[in-house]
Amino acid sequence: MPAPRPWHLLPPGDVPPRGRTTLPIVRRGIDHGTVILGDVEPTPPEEPDAAFAASEPVLIPGVLGDALEVADDHVVATWQAFEGFREGARLLPEVEARLEDAAPFLYAGSSFDLEEPREIEKVFVDVPAADTPHGRRIRDLWAKLSWIAEDEADTSLRIRMSFGHEATKDWLQPEVRAAWTDALTARMFPETRLVTDNEVVRGFLGDVLAAPHRLGECIVYSNAPGGGAVFHHDADPGQHGVAIAQLLGATVWLACPRAELAVHVAAVAARIGGPQRLQTAEGVASSFDVASDADLYRLLNATPELTRELAEAERLFVLRPGDVLILPSHGPEHCAWHAVFGVGAQPSLGLSFGIFDAVPEMQGLPPRR
Ligand SMILES: [Fe+2]
Repeated sequence: MPAPRPWHLLPPGDVPPRGRTTLPIVRRGIDHGTVILGDVEPTPPEEPDAAFAASEPVLIPGVLGDALEVADDHVVATWQAFEGFREGARLLPEVEARLEDAAPFLYAGSSFDLEEPREIEKVFVDVPAADTPHGRRIRDLWAKLSWIAEDEADTSLRIRMSFGHEATKDWLQPEVRAAWTDALTARMFPETRLVTDNEVVRGFLGDVLAAPHRLGECIVYSNAPGGGAVFHHDADPGQHGVAIAQLLGATVWLACPRAELAVHVAAVAARIGGPQRLQTAEGVASSFDVASDADLYRLLNATPELTRELAEAERLFVLRPGDVLILPSHGPEHCAWHAVFGVGAQPSLGLSFGIFDAVPEMQGLPPRR
């Protein structure tokens, strides 16, 4: 008899048993099946340090604990802000309301990038010279509101907190503005402290990284039912991974080390008669590096058989309020690829943070709170 699992996946068309919590996973019109909850509660991996080293996802269920209830007003306010954006509300008044009386942060301008179809509005914030320890103005901290998908039917939204030029990836530099961006994030979205101040999450990352780290480049996001993000990785130089937290509602994730994902994709391609070149793990792995491979995209994102294969391999995760999922990244070849399904009757709310080395002590850091 198989070991009980916290959830399992029924293939499309199968009728779920009565009396169980079910989460149909349908993304952009493609039915990937129904997740059934409830055999046992989820648990972290038996050896989380080894899992992190092997680029495996590390689920820490319920780790936000009672603090999530205490932060409920902030969480609900942010969820409502996303509902407003879906109705066409602007980001600027939301930022201004959240920064009211919040010296030293000052509105510095807005931009609308018409070349980027997903971008809605970017709001820039400065810190005046008089309010910085080094007496120089901090420029170009920003909050950017975007659609998650290039699909009008998917109303999933996100706000990214960052600084400087995106094209040159300024945010990868351990410069003083990274620390100011983190301070701005905490001011605008106090609920982010649920993760950044969480002793279990920080303790785990401190252990596996064995060096001071920071959780930055926060994305506050709201996945809409039927939407979500397709398979990707976040392996950028100097980034040790991503920490995901669920605040409201649920999301379903597929997360798997790159090399193992290639094996699963090849197995499914062979089973369903996919392209010959994608029927070996080597063939799949080489296609991972191709910018647009329509056959691979279809296998990864629009093939319920792959979702089922990954669920059987315990690479499917249900995130509920209070859960944190760590997705390690040790470079492009050794990282956890991941995909998300928005589920439930209403949009959900979650946070993601890039895991970086701590910003070195330098003149101009924001005062510690
Ligand atoms: Fe990601």
